[in-house]
This record gives sequence, structure tokens and C-alpha cells, in this order.
Amino acid sequence: MPSRLASLAAELAEPVPGVAAEIAPGDMMLHGDPAHYAVAGQSAWRCIATGLLAAGVADPKRVLDLPCGHGRVTRVLRRALPDAELTVCDLDRDGVDHCASAFGATPVYSREDLAEVGFDEAFDLIWCGSLVTHLDKPGWLATFQLVMRSLRPQGVAVITFHGRWSAYRMQTGKNYGLPRARVEQILASYAATGFGYADYENGTGYGVSLNSPAWLIGEVQAWQELRIVALCERQWDDHQDVLVVQAMG
Ligand SMILES: C[S@@+](CC[C@H](N)C(=O)[O-])C[C@H]1O[C@@H](n2cnc3c(N)ncnc32)[C@H](O)[C@@H]1O
Repeated sequence: MPSRLASLAAELAEPVPGVAAEIAPGDMMLHGDPAHYAVAGQSAWRCIATGLLAAGVADPKRVLDLPCGHGRVTRVLRRALPDAELTVCDLDRDGVDHCASAFGATPVYSREDLAEVGFDEAFDLIWCGSLVTHLDKPGWLATFQLVMRSLRPQGVAVITFHGRWSAYRMQTGKNYGLPRARVEQILASYAATGFGYADYENGTGYGVSLNSPAWLIGEVQAWQELRIVALCERQWDDHQDVLVVQAMG
């Protein structure tokens, strides 16, 4: 007979069944690869489920997907937590509208400055997939402050980062959509301080960030109101690091 742990592991390894396959025309996360799109959504759920288990939260009732995009992960959350009240939030209004209608979620339009964003009620679970990976230090801080003021006591946030694996990928030639000079700028700052960021070419305030695990824990440990539950490198889609924090009631 398999151990209870083996059964749990086997269940987590199974994809969430019945996830919607249709992808909205404006979905920027498709990159022409529907199979990988589905894998990333399912992998996000495994990050979330293991984070919730580690935090001792089994039945989150109010759930936020920030940023939802066009629902790459929202669709999995909808099936994995069928009774949860799901809220979706993004700057991309078309994505928010799509997630609201396709996945029965409450829509909230975000703002460029996350300090200006608020929700009517707090959440038991916040999934924050690949937002701070695109933000500079002030954006990173504003994201954490929004998460902190939006979690219920004992609520859990699962937040993803570009960590050591992304640093290695950049060092070995991946450019993450940036000109090479900007990648070098990120890597130099990362080597010096543990954090690096550069804008994409077409604007300011949105680009690519990179942080070491030590830098991340150093920042988060300043907030007594958050318990650090887990930091798992390369957990999301064998790429982004995943931090799990819990609000102390
Ligand atoms: C890499 S995508 C990830 C989307 C989604 N989490 C997924 O995995 O498919 C980054 C998203 O962040 C959104 N975004 C950027 N700045 C934002 C802000 N200030 N508030 C909310 N969403 C933002 C973008 O519109 C985009 O949809």
C-alpha cells in the first residue's frame, strides 16, 4: 500500500482535470505554444497547492489572481477551487474582462501605481504570478504592500520571482526580451546588490527584474506581519522562484 505521502504526491502530480482549453485572442502569454501554456497553468497550481499545504490552509474561500492576464492560471484556479470566490485584477482590461466572463470571477482594473489599488474585502489566497518579475524596486515594494493589506489573517500569498536560475540563463545568453546591454546592466547590479532591473525598450517602469534568494529573504524579513512559509527555487514551470508568505493574525 502506498504511504499517505506517496498518495498526496501522486495526486499533486496529476493535472487538474477539466481546465478550459480555449485561449483568448489577446493573450500575450501564449507565445504560439498552447501545450506549454497549459503546463505553466498546471505548474502554478502545484506551487499554490504546496504553498497552502505548507501554510496549513486547506480551503481558501476568497482568492485573488493578480495579475490575471487572460487567465492562464485563473482557469486552473477555477477548476481546482470550484467554490472559491475568485477575483481577477490586471492593468490589461481586456484580460480582466475575459477572465471575469470566462471564469466567473469578479473583475478589478488595476493601476500602474499599485499603491492606488484596493479591494473591498481581503483574501485567503493571493496568487501573484510574474508581476514583480517585471517591476523595479518601488514597484516590487508596492506589490508587497498591496499583498500585505489585502490578506486576511492567516491568508497566504504565493509570489513568483526571477532568481538564481534566471540569473544563470541570462549569464548564458538568454536576453528575456531585452537588448544585451540591459541584461548586462541587470547582472552587474544583481552581482553587486542581489537585485537588478532594467526597463523594456519601449517605456519606463516595466521590464525585467532579477533577485537572489538572500536579497529576497532579507527584504521580506523586515515585515513582522508576514511569516515566511517557503521559498522554492525554479518551482514555477521549472523557471521562476516561488515565495510563500502568510499573514499573521
Ligand atoms: C507576464 S504577465 C503574467 C500574467 C499572468 N499572471 C500569467 O501568468 O499568465 C504580466 C502581467 O502583469 C500585468 N501588469 C503589469 N503591471 C501591472 C499592474 N500595475 N497592475 C496589475 N497588473 C499589471 C500585465 O498587464 C501582464 O498581464
